[in-house]
Amino acid sequence: MCGIVAYIGFQPAAPIIYKCLGKLEYRGYDSCGIAISNRDNITVEKDTKRVAALQFNTLPLDGKIGLGHTRWATCGEPSRANAHPHVDCLHKIAVVHNGNIENFEELRKALVGEGHIFTSETDTEVLPHLIEKYYEGELGQAVTRAIKDIRGSFAIAVICAGEEKVVLAKQKSPLVIGLIDKEYIAASDIAALLDYTDRVMYLEEGDVCNITTVGIELYRNGVLTELTEERIAWKPADTRLGGFSHYMMKEINEQPRVITETLAAFEGVSEKLIGLLDPPENRRTSLLMVGCGTSYHSALVGKYIFEELIGRPVNVELASELNYRANVIADKVALAISQSGETADTLQAVRRIKATGCKMVCITNVEGSQLSRLADLSIYTKAGPEISVASTKTFIAQVALLYAICISHANIDEILKKDLERGLGQIPILIRQFLNEQSNIETLGRYLATFNNVLFVARGINYPVALEGALKLKETSYIHGEGYAAGELKHGPFALLDSNTPAIAIVAHDRTYEAMLTNIREIKTRKAPVIAVVEEGDKEVADLVDIVIEVPHTDPFFSPMLNVVALQLLAYYTALERGCPIDFPRNLAKTVTVE
Ligand code: M6R
Repeated sequence: MCGIVAYIGFQPAAPIIYKCLGKLEYRGYDSCGIAISNRDNITVEKDTKRVAALQFNTLPLDGKIGLGHTRWATCGEPSRANAHPHVDCLHKIAVVHNGNIENFEELRKALVGEGHIFTSETDTEVLPHLIEKYYEGELGQAVTRAIKDIRGSFAIAVICAGEEKVVLAKQKSPLVIGLIDKEYIAASDIAALLDYTDRVMYLEEGDVCNITTVGIELYRNGVLTELTEERIAWKPADTRLGGFSHYMMKEINEQPRVITETLAAFEGVSEKLIGLLDPPENRRTSLLMVGCGTSYHSALVGKYIFEELIGRPVNVELASELNYRANVIADKVALAISQSGETADTLQAVRRIKATGCKMVCITNVEGSQLSRLADLSIYTKAGPEISVASTKTFIAQVALLYAICISHANIDEILKKDLERGLGQIPILIRQFLNEQSNIETLGRYLATFNNVLFVARGINYPVALEGALKLKETSYIHGEGYAAGELKHGPFALLDSNTPAIAIVAHDRTYEAMLTNIREIKTRKAPVIAVVEEGDKEVADLVDIVIEVPHTDPFFSPMLNVVALQLLAYYTALERGCPIDFPRNLAKTVTVE
């Protein structure tokens, strides 16, 4: 999704802005641009190029104040004209924007009627014209007035020729300011800032802020307010490839460490959380979990875990669906899961759930994210920045946390509790062993790359893993993958099966085992090739299917954490064989900040 950057300080702005934009590329974009202010002039360069190409193909820009933008088209196709920054008629005001202006058509019509000339199809372009309309010699006041006319979501950065300041405003879309000595970089997320600073300030809904080299003047609800400084724990090296050819592979390999660090950090919040989840009046109430995409899949794993171990009912909802229900049905506590903590659908669902009086716990990877600010309690996955659009290490960290929460929450005998804790603690070692020893997935990826459709089937606790495996395959390799509950095949998808549609069966040694064998036989009868992800040494499945991927033995309760790694690798190697841009799939964005 769109990423914005703004710089003000005493160094040439352009190289810093380009570098920060480069760090936002992972969010997904189709065009980019920069505006540099130098005394009475603003120079804008933009195109449908990559950030590095734009920088390489433009003359050096002189000036110590500027804006940058990576655009993920939502309103108007990707083109030079639609790329940001957008400017007013006199080319004195430049704006970058992340978000969605719902009433832009009526605003545009009125502005055109007043003589403003538009040059793009975007919603954003109404902003520089509105600011121009209200400008009376001070940019901050004009921005404050202009945003009163806007309905929708926005994080904006604005500059004006002749004024040595950057003005920021935020409503629903993310915006953070990085502090360096007498220099400031504002950006959509902290990944952009890591090379420059670990000191940040987060803006809240409705904030408007004027930044000069003298300092930050923040207006919250119109009142001048002090911002609090916070520290980022991530390091610049966390965003580098570190010898891997793709972030996805790097992040898959980080999983053992990520689980260990996530579980260690959880110990610090466990008591607080249990206090919230488990007061006597809550024990029989249901727990609502929400998320999108991969985070939704981890919530589904959570449902199986909670219901299996403690019998507490869990309702899992797609945030985007919950947002359009007439009524939100939530009990006392709900849990929102989001890697970025900025997914617009999830944030909106959280607002709706909170409005019912329900307490909100969140699992997120980004401290300071909007989700963590909305939640009553935040639990962090310690995955470090996840750059690849396809989530891997954050999924496993979310799932590890759900296990840890469930085990510490469970009213079970101490010996069983210790056993489960030990079992969970072993998972990083088993994943490391699997990553080191697995030998046939690369070959299998080459084989899978020749098909157009692949079915992923499982039952029980591994059903969400089938959904996640299918999602990983489709987004990285552009092969249609469909995850299905194995027992549902006979209710429709059997019609798809033939020798051109392989099925990937995820088989765990739990109460679903025999039923899975039956389903595999049914699939084989329809001549579909079957690849099974099984526990090592499972002869019975090996004899039945065409190929097996063996994962190390574990308690089947924890099997999703091993099985999903096999499917992540399979998606990776399939995409590699097909020559796909693994880390940055077409049309996708890492952080989805529009609904
Ligand atoms: O940041 P979030 O976890 O809220 O993102 C939600 C989805 O957009 C995300 O999980 C997406 O499905 C994955 N990146 C796909 O691999």
